[in-house]
Parts: sequence; structure tokens; C-alpha cells
Amino acid sequence: MAQSLRVWINGSEERISGVAPTTMLLDYLRASGRVGTKEGCAEGDCGACTVAVRGERGVQAVNSCIVPLGAVSNYEIVTAEGLVRNGVLHPVQEALARAGGSQCGYCTPGFVMSLFAAQYSGERGDGVLEGNLCRCTGYLPIREAARSPSAPAADDPYFTSTQPAEAADYSVGDEHFFSPRSLKGALELLSLHPGAKPIAGGTDVGVELNKVGRRNAVLVSLAGVPELRRLTETAAGLELGGALTLSELEARLGGRVPLLETMLRSFAARQIRNRATLAGNLATASPVGDLAPVLLACGARVKLVSLGGERTVALSDFFTGYRTTVQRPGELIASVTVPKPDAPRLEAVYKVGKRGADDISTVAAAFSLELKADKIVTSARLAYGGVAATPVRALEVEQFLIGRPWTERTAAEAAGRLRGLFTPLSDLRGSAEYRRALVGNLFEKFFYEHSAEVAA
Ligand SMILES: Cc1cc2nc3c(=O)[nH]c(=O)nc-3n(C[C@H](O)[C@H](O)[C@H](O)COP(=O)(O)OP(=O)(O)OC[C@H]3O[C@@H](n4cnc5c(N)ncnc54)[C@H](O)[C@@H]3O)c2cc1C
Ligand code: FES
Ligand code: FES
Repeated sequence: MAQSLRVWINGSEERISGVAPTTMLLDYLRASGRVGTKEGCAEGDCGACTVAVRGERGVQAVNSCIVPLGAVSNYEIVTAEGLVRNGVLHPVQEALARAGGSQCGYCTPGFVMSLFAAQYSGERGDGVLEGNLCRCTGYLPIREAARSPSAPAADDPYFTSTQPAEAADYSVGDEHFFSPRSLKGALELLSLHPGAKPIAGGTDVGVELNKVGRRNAVLVSLAGVPELRRLTETAAGLELGGALTLSELEARLGGRVPLLETMLRSFAARQIRNRATLAGNLATASPVGDLAPVLLACGARVKLVSLGGERTVALSDFFTGYRTTVQRPGELIASVTVPKPDAPRLEAVYKVGKRGADDISTVAAAFSLELKADKIVTSARLAYGGVAATPVRALEVEQFLIGRPWTERTAAEAAGRLRGLFTPLSDLRGSAEYRRALVGNLFEKFFYEHSAEVAA
């Protein structure tokens, strides 16, 4: 097990040793003098700590406050300090300065790095900056700067290493960060170290480390496990590898799972989607996890693997209670299969939060109905997040709908039943009463928004 970790920071190779693998990249950068990268929230929300990394997935903007050092071994990292070359500002810095997009400057390195990374991904528009908050300038000039797209120069001086970007194992004392290159390797490590925790994008694990201080001595990274990163289309459906990131899903789904693709657009911001994975979202079993309701409405199945073999469970049987699932120690989510519908379905997904984008759901809902030509409902899946201890399907109301005509009256009656079905909690995102109202209102919204489609 390597006792040192290699990275390239702003073009220079650096060997790190004696720094715990769970130390966040931000803390390392700042402790080593790169204080241009700022800390705002330390939980992935504000973007002040954004840096660009080049690893297995190309150049990406990430929140360095929740990326453990172990996850970036052999990566190239560019920080705001690395952008100026020979005294000349980088075009994105120039654009931000020209637009007057900076006042106190605290958020500016983060904005600059998001714009810088977007050159490589080719992403344009406001979405690039969704994960960066500014408290004093106002967004108009910053958005203006984002409208001056530039592309990396042909002789790009920023990412130069010819070394493989594959992360390597790293260990300090009794803290180990393993980066296996195969599924078998990952499963063997989990079996060998019973207390070990799998980590994929680390967007939940990183926040736990920072905010709760929950520390596992052994982390097993799934980011470089090829078997978990496949996307396969079969006659039965689309099998999505558990360690595919949400940015990868956005790029690769190509309209094949519209419900999921719609939800991904309102799931966190680019820096988070660049690292967060599908399986991580399900395994964490948050009652407000956004992908579960969508995948429940799709009738998805989860493939679990361990050294003992594999098994498949319906996602509706996966969650067993608050933050608990059927997943056994040593088992991993290998993939999630979204079945191909036998016939066109009427579908919609809704996410209600305090902010339009980059926010955790108060309530999320996903609906999928199949109707016969005479508008009789023949199959229904109605799923919710934020209304119970787990993401749930409204099974009773699904049964109520089957065999009924898809009319205003049916929708209103179903909505009434839905409002009484769950006993959500009150919290800072919304009262129980508000959530109960949403459960029914979103279903009625679904009816009114989509009744024309059926009539057509
Ligand atoms: C700023 C911010 C915004 C967010 N916004 C949203 C949002 O809008 N909607 C939402 O739903 N969530 C949101 N999240 C939560 C988080 O990003 C997601 O839950 C994400 O999908 C987790 O994936 P990950 O790969 O980062 O998981 P990790 O943090 O790596 O792991 C999470 C858990 O899953 C386990 N795990 C990971 N992969 C596997 C696997 N293949 N098999 C078995 N267990 C596994 C880990 O052991 C860990 O217990 C947000 C988080 C942050 C920090
Ligand atoms: S410090 Fe706020 S996202 Fe990292
Ligand atoms: S310029 Fe002050 S926070 Fe953005």
C-alpha cells in the first residue's frame, strides 16, 4: 500500500505523504499555501472551493471541500492560482473582469474555475454556474462573463501530464483509501476489511466527514471500477452501472429515460453531478433522495453483487426503513435496470424545493401511467420522496386508478386519497400539512398538464 500520493497541481508534480487520505483537497490546498481556493460552506453548496481536476472522466469542475485527497491520486488539479500565464489573465478571468463580475472577490476563484472547466466539457450557459453563489456582486455581470465562451488553446498549457489518471491506493497509519480497478478487487477489499466503507463520488460521504466527523479507517473507492460504469441496452431495458456519475448519465441517456433525465436537470449543480453517482443516491437511502421516486415510477430493479454472487431486487423492495436498505455488508449495487415499457406511458416528474435549482426536495413526485385507447388506466406507478421515512410508492392509490377512466373526476378523487395516504414530518423545508397538500396537488397538476396529450 503506497504511503505517498502523487498529484499534479498547476502543472507541477507533487508527492504527498503523512496527510490523511480523508483530508479534503481544499484543506490540503490551503494548508500548502494555495489560499486562492476559498471555503464557504464546506458541504458542496456554494462553489467557493471549485477547482478543475483531470482524472478518469476528463476535465471537471469539483467542489474541493468534499473531495478526499485519496480520490485524486494521480490526478491533475488546476486552481485559480494556476490560470495566469506569463502575467496574462486567462480568457475566463478577463471576461469576468471586463463584465464587472467581482466585488469582494471571495466567490470569484470558484466562478472562474467553473468557467474554466466548462471550456473542456463544452457546456455553455447559466447551468455552468449553478453551483456557485455570490453574495455581493449580483449575477447579471457574472452571467454576462459566462456568455463569452472560450475553448482551450491547441497547446493547452494547463493539463499536460502524460501519466495515467488512474487513482492509486494511499495509506497513512491505519487510514487506507483503496482504489481497486475491478469489481472483484473491490468486493475482496470489502470482505477483507469488514468495517470498510464504499465511496463513489463522495458527495454524501464527504459531507458526513466534514459535518458529522463520521470517519471510516478504510474507504474503498468505486470510481475506477469498470464493471460499475457500464451502460447497456438490452431487449428488457437499460442497465445503468451503479458508479456512473449523474453528468455521465445526462450525457449518455440520450432521451431513453425521460423521467430520469428531467430529474437530473434539477439535481444539485454541475460540480456535484460531476461526482455523484446513481448507486450512491440509492444506497444512502435518504427519504429526500431524488432519483428513488423517479426510478420507482419507472419500475426499476437493483442488481446487488457480493463475493457470494448476485441478486436482483425490485427498487420498491430495496428500502426497508429510515436510511436502511436490503443491502448486506460486503454487497455493492452493481447496476439499476430501467425496464423498457411495453407501451407508451403518460409520465411526469416534479421536484418542489425552496429554490428552483440546486436544492434538496421538500417533496419529489414521479408518475407513470399506461392507458388503453379508451383512456382507461391499465397500469399506474406513483412514487414520492419527502413524505415518509423512505421513498415510497402510493400502492393503494395505484390500485384505485387501475380500471378507471383518466378523467378530471378520477384525478381529483385520487388526489384526495393521496393527501391522506402518508404521514410526513414537519421540518425546515416544509410542514407536514404542506407536504400532504403537495402529494395530492402534484398529482392534479400531472392530470391537467398531461390530459391534452391523452386527448390528442
Ligand atoms: C451540495 C449537495 C447537493 C445535493 N443535491 C442533491 C439533490 O438535489 N438530490 C439528491 O437526491 N441528492 C443530493 N445530494 C446528495 C448526493 O449528492 C447524492 O445522494 C449522490 O447521488 C450520492 O452519490 P455519491 O456517489 O456521491 O455517494 P457517496 O457519497 O460516495 O456514497 C453515499 C453512500 O452510498 C454508498 N455507496 C456508494 N456507491 C455504492 C454502490 N455502488 N453500492 C453500494 N453502496 C454504495 C456509500 O458507501 C455511502 O454510504 C446533494 C449533495 C450535496 C453535497
Ligand atoms: S466550500 Fe462551499 S462548496 Fe465547497
Ligand atoms: S464578489 Fe463578493 S461574494 Fe461574490
